Amino acid sequence: MKPGYLITLEGPEGAGKSTQIGLLEEALVLRGYSVLRSYEPGGGNALTKKIRELLLSRDNAGMCEETELFLMLAARVEHVKKLILPALREGKIVICDRFIDSSLAYQGYGRGLPLKIISDMNQFAIRGRYPDLTLILDVNSEIGLERAKNKAGLDRIEMEKLDFHHRVREGFLQLSEEGEQYYLIDAMREVGQIHLEILGRVLKLVGA
Ligand SMILES: Nc1ncnc2c1ncn2[C@@H]1O[C@H](COP(=O)(O)OP(=O)(O)OP(=O)(O)O)[C@@H](O)[C@H]1O
Ligand SMILES: [Mg+2]
Repeated sequence: MKPGYLITLEGPEGAGKSTQIGLLEEALVLRGYSVLRSYEPGGGNALTKKIRELLLSRDNAGMCEETELFLMLAARVEHVKKLILPALREGKIVICDRFIDSSLAYQGYGRGLPLKIISDMNQFAIRGRYPDLTLILDVNSEIGLERAKNKAGLDRIEMEKLDFHHRVREGFLQLSEEGEQYYLIDAMREVGQIHLEILGRVLKLVGA
């Protein structure tokens, strides 16, 4: 039986994560791989979707930073135990739009909560099953927010001040240097070019 792989896509608002995941999924399925595509916060089940609504609703402006972190992590546990781990056991390639590094970048670098606590909470939430590969899409905050804005109205986190988004971007850049499992991508290029780079790295991981 083929081993499962956990691949996460990370990066600031409007970096092109959803766009690239769509293209990656299509390319892998064409090559015969069994893929599960998911996202955080919200992927998993009805409960995680409700947690996502709480997190992103502008009605909850002013939520405590710690509450934001706990809600993100609550959704993560549900997602990992109910969806991701079973899919990995079945040998699937799981591609997840945002995961543990978004908690570090947003609640850690962005909100200023202690990185060590977030890392420990992440480890607990994912039962120690770290991603095999984390693709970090880097985009300048102004360009990213402009892209995100064109898509729909801004959610509670997207509407944060530019300063916050600069810290988040810097956080992702720092994280990308923390180990072999990270792969940093310049996402200010053309969609097709980024896709080819991502696909090349993923095929290397899965041994194609
Ligand atoms: N490389 C690119 N160049 C120009 N526009 C892009 C590029 N990649 C994506 N876009 C466009 O930018 C917008 C945001 O892209 P997308 O939704 O994929 O980003 P995201 O990282 O998933 O954003 P979010 O964090 O808001 O979920 C979309 O309208 C998309 O078509
Ligand atoms: Mg997206």
